[in-house]
Amino acid sequence: MNITFYGHACFGIEIAGKNFLVDPFISGNPKASHINLNEIQADFILLTHAHQDHVLDVEAIAERTRATIISNYEIVMYYGAKNLKGHPVNHGGTYTVDDITIKYVNAIHTSSFADGTYGGEPGGFVVSYKGKSLYIAGDTALTMDMKLIPMSTKLTASILPIGDNFTMGVEDAIIASDFVECDQVIGCHFDTFPPIEIDQEEAKNKFLNKNKHLELLEIGESISI
Ligand code: NI
Ligand code: MN
Repeated sequence: MNITFYGHACFGIEIAGKNFLVDPFISGNPKASHINLNEIQADFILLTHAHQDHVLDVEAIAERTRATIISNYEIVMYYGAKNLKGHPVNHGGTYTVDDITIKYVNAIHTSSFADGTYGGEPGGFVVSYKGKSLYIAGDTALTMDMKLIPMSTKLTASILPIGDNFTMGVEDAIIASDFVECDQVIGCHFDTFPPIEIDQEEAKNKFLNKNKHLELLEIGESISI
């Protein structure tokens, strides 16, 4: 799996020639102004919830790429009414495409569109392919439900929010990495807005002190797992 960070909570994940785009919020993020929206590839768009900082660029990208939106029923219906393709899932459910499995898992947060439309219940995803699994927590608090994930899946890496205020902060994300039994963490949902600014070096050291690794990618940077 090749993972590219597009800022905030937006990631591109390339698996076996298929491109999965998570929570596109690029045109509204001044820190991602060097990312060209028109060059982002997507066969599937995975949406954790309906908040604007996760869905702002869905329509532009989905119209251009004809990508299939994978999210909860309410979000898929919302975009279906705009003639965008989608595949609905709900908590606990797994969708499989070309041997890649995408499971929608629990998150503790809220979910509504900018126009007030109900955005279903928020979630995260576990994406697995050929023995590798990536947990994308979405916006969430620390929750005991995270302990369910390693009961069925050995994770390779986890994308966890660490910016606090709207989601977990660093301390809870460290506990979350214990709950999901995965010490390789990629941070997201930090530094985009003043309420979620963090001290990056301090955050990395806090993980290091627990023998865990926190990867903070530059916007536009990629890693392979
Ligand atoms: Ni949110
Ligand atoms: Mn958010």
